Amino acid sequence: MTQDELGKDCQALVLFGATGDLTRRMLWPSLYALDCDQMLPQGFRLIGVARSETPQDEFIERVREAIKTSANAALFDAARFAEFARRISYAQVFVTEKEGLEPLARLLDGKARGIIYYLATDPQQFGPICRALKAAGLTDPSCRMVVEKPIGSDEQSAHATNEAISEGFAEHQVFRIDHYLGKEAVQNLLALRFANAIFEPLWNSSAIEQVQITVAETVGVEGRWGYYDRAGALRDMVQSHLLQLLCLVAMEPPARFDPGAVRNEKVKVLWSLRSIDASNVAHNTVTGQYTSGFSGDRGVPGYREEEGSNPRSDTETFVALRAEIDNWRWAGVPFYLRTGKRLQKRVSEIVIQFKSAPFNIFSGLGATLAPNALLIKLQPEEMIRLTLMHKRPGMHHLELGEVGLNLSLNDAFGDVRRRIAYERMLLDVLRGNSALFVRRDEVEASWKWVDGIVAGWQATNQKPRPYGAGSWGPSAAIGLPERFGHSWHE
Ligand code: BG6
Repeated sequence: MTQDELGKDCQALVLFGATGDLTRRMLWPSLYALDCDQMLPQGFRLIGVARSETPQDEFIERVREAIKTSANAALFDAARFAEFARRISYAQVFVTEKEGLEPLARLLDGKARGIIYYLATDPQQFGPICRALKAAGLTDPSCRMVVEKPIGSDEQSAHATNEAISEGFAEHQVFRIDHYLGKEAVQNLLALRFANAIFEPLWNSSAIEQVQITVAETVGVEGRWGYYDRAGALRDMVQSHLLQLLCLVAMEPPARFDPGAVRNEKVKVLWSLRSIDASNVAHNTVTGQYTSGFSGDRGVPGYREEEGSNPRSDTETFVALRAEIDNWRWAGVPFYLRTGKRLQKRVSEIVIQFKSAPFNIFSGLGATLAPNALLIKLQPEEMIRLTLMHKRPGMHHLELGEVGLNLSLNDAFGDVRRRIAYERMLLDVLRGNSALFVRRDEVEASWKWVDGIVAGWQATNQKPRPYGAGSWGPSAAIGLPERFGHSWHE
């Protein structure tokens, strides 16, 4: 797509929450990078809106600072930024007040053609903003609506939010962001599965013993205690990022790489997840909450001692669980999921562990055979490794050991700039390609499954177990796969 073709129907991006944290850290730096690469349409305007009264030059100054202190700081160039800034304007709006969108309507000359609305606000605002846009005559079939997670906090509230969005925007106009789908390594998972023929015959319960998905963070709640305490690790991470990763691992090959086909296959996985409820929640889940400890060599407070905290909070900052997918491909294969804050290392990875060799002909020599595993490391570095058994070189007995067949994507593509996930997501919105965005039925299906777990915890009064910051979570989490004869990949 040339710059002329790209987003040719798009006139402007209107950014609600223009002074917020996400906008500062991710959105302005991503928009700037796209502009540097000439990937924003000619004449495309960027309109920040928020409630505060901010003069235009002060707003542009903030955007400049945001870029200079971001992951894209190296791209900053004063002359280039001056060009970029010509696209930017700011409007003070009050969504819930009559005529509160008037300043925005004036900037748009009262016309809503080709406008991309981006809601980087408190999710409680999604419904009111969509309704206000509609009431102000600022919606049109040529508009697009981009919303951040979380959509709701359970199935019912997600449904209500989706209904409110749908009053102003048809489903094909809505782009629900899960920023994990914008990560290069996550998209590579689709390429690994569907651009290579060698894995497909093995990608099922005949060859695979278990799958593990880990998203471990070293950070704590980072000043978001209020939000996080209502959410917890299950709602904050599992409902969105981990279930999306699970879908990409487990889905059937889509007929085409288009939004309808890809998302049809993902939602079928969510529908096939076996319910976890009061009857089996204790067997299949472990929760934890961090206490004081270390992040690297720095001492850090426990969750209940964080600023603004409630010292009696029972919110989980760690969850490990065993999911099962009731379909032909995956029947009997456990998917172990775990995520937590203040863990020992920042790492996101997927491990596909294959079944053991059916018989060990080397057992007479004292050799044990480790099962093969495919490790897909998503961050901090991207890497794919297949572990194989091999013979150690030497003249003695046949000695066997594990060796990794490594594909380091950093080595292979080290000279290619690693992009912020939002650059890719914003570009796809401009292209009108929603394949990497979450469809309404996916959001509601994943909440439905998560709601069962939350209800199970409540019914059985399951409380999070303490774990020291800087550890790998509560020791009971180690025992979870062990109950089923497995262990976490270290
Ligand atoms: C967000 C969660 O969606 O993802 C945060 O709300 C979490 O709690 C973050 O820290 C993790 O994203 P990443 O890209 O740093 O792995």
